[in-house]
Amino acid sequence: MKIAMIGTGYVGLVSGVCFSDFGHEVVCVDKDPRKIEMLERGEVPIYEPGLDTLMAKNVEAGRLSFTLDLKSAIDGAEAVFIAVGTPTRRGDGHADLSYVMAAAEEIAKAADHYIVVVTKSTVPVGTNRKVQEVVAAANPGLEFDVASNPEFLREGAAIDDFMKPDRVVVGVETERAAKVMEDIYRPLYLRDFPIVTTDLESAEMIKYAANAFLATKITFINEIAALCEKVGANVKQVSKGMGLDGRIGNKFLHAGPGYGGSCFPKDTKALARIGQEHAAPISIVETVIKV
Ligand SMILES: NC(=O)c1ccc[n+]([C@@H]2O[C@H](COP(=O)([O-])OP(=O)(O)OC[C@H]3O[C@@H](n4cnc5c(N)ncnc54)[C@H](O)[C@@H]3O)[C@@H](O)[C@H]2O)c1
Repeated sequence: MKIAMIGTGYVGLVSGVCFSDFGHEVVCVDKDPRKIEMLERGEVPIYEPGLDTLMAKNVEAGRLSFTLDLKSAIDGAEAVFIAVGTPTRRGDGHADLSYVMAAAEEIAKAADHYIVVVTKSTVPVGTNRKVQEVVAAANPGLEFDVASNPEFLREGAAIDDFMKPDRVVVGVETERAAKVMEDIYRPLYLRDFPIVTTDLESAEMIKYAANAFLATKITFINEIAALCEKVGANVKQVSKGMGLDGRIGNKFLHAGPGYGGSCFPKDTKALARIGQEHAAPISIVETVIKV
C-alpha cells in the first residue's frame, strides 16, 4: 500500500521508516527544505538509535522517499497520515491545532481519489471530526474517511516501541477505513500485538489519558519521596515494594526530577483544559500540573 506521511519530525520519520519496513511504499513530506535535503542525503535529523540503518535499508529497497511536494506524495496513496506538531497554544494551555488543520486542508486540496486521513499527532477529543469538516469543505467531492491513530513511542526507544508496541490504537467510523488501517498494521496483527479498535473520540482520549496517568505516577512517587525524607524511609525501597505489585507496576515509579520531555507537560495541560471546557475538571491532573 502507498502511504503519505505529512510531517517528518520525530513521530513522522520513525513511523514512516517503520511502515516502509513493514513493506509499504512510504513518501514522507515536510515543509522544511533543510530537513528534506538532509534526509535525501541519507542523514537523520534526530538522534534515534538504529533509525539511520533502517532508513537506508528501505530507501535502498525503493520503498521510502522524501519530498517537499505534498501533491506527488498523495498521488496513489490510500492513507495519508498527519504527524505535525501540536504544541501548547500561547496563553491558554490548549493544544495548538493550526498545523493539523493546515495539513488537513492541503491534503484535501491535493487529493483526487479515496483516502483515509489518519491523525497520528496527539490531538484533543473532537479534532478528527474537525479534520473531517475541514477536508469536506476544502474538497466537497472527495471520497474520504478519517481515522485516529495516536502514537505512543518513546524517544530513544522509538523503533522498538513502534515495531513491538504494547498496543496500537485505531479510531475509525467506517468499515472501509478499518480495512485500510488493518492492512497498514497487518504485520503487527500477524504477530499478535494488541490492536485496540475504537470510535474516534475514544482513540483521541486514550492518548491523553495514558500520558496524564504516567505523569501522575511520576508526580505521586515524588510526593512519596518528599514524605520519605521527612519520616526516615528510603524511597527506592518503597518504590520497589510498591512496584512489584502487578496492579501498580514498577515503571514510572522512580523518584527524581518531575515529569518533563516534549509531550507530558503539554498533554497534561491540554487534558486539563478539555476537562474544564466540558465542566468535568480532572482534579488529579490539575493537581499534577501545579506541583
Ligand atoms: N516526540 C514524541 O516522542 C512523540 C510521541 C508521541 C506523540 N507525539 C505527537 O506527535 C506529533 C508530532 O510530534 P513530533 O515530535 O514528531 O513533532 P516535530 O515538531 O518534531 O515535527 C513536526 C514536523 O511537521 C512538519 N510540518 C508542519 N506542518 C507541515 C505541513 N503542513 N506539511 C508538511 N510538514 C509539516 C514540521 O516542519 C516538522 O518537521 C505531536 O502531536 C506530538 O505530541 C510525539
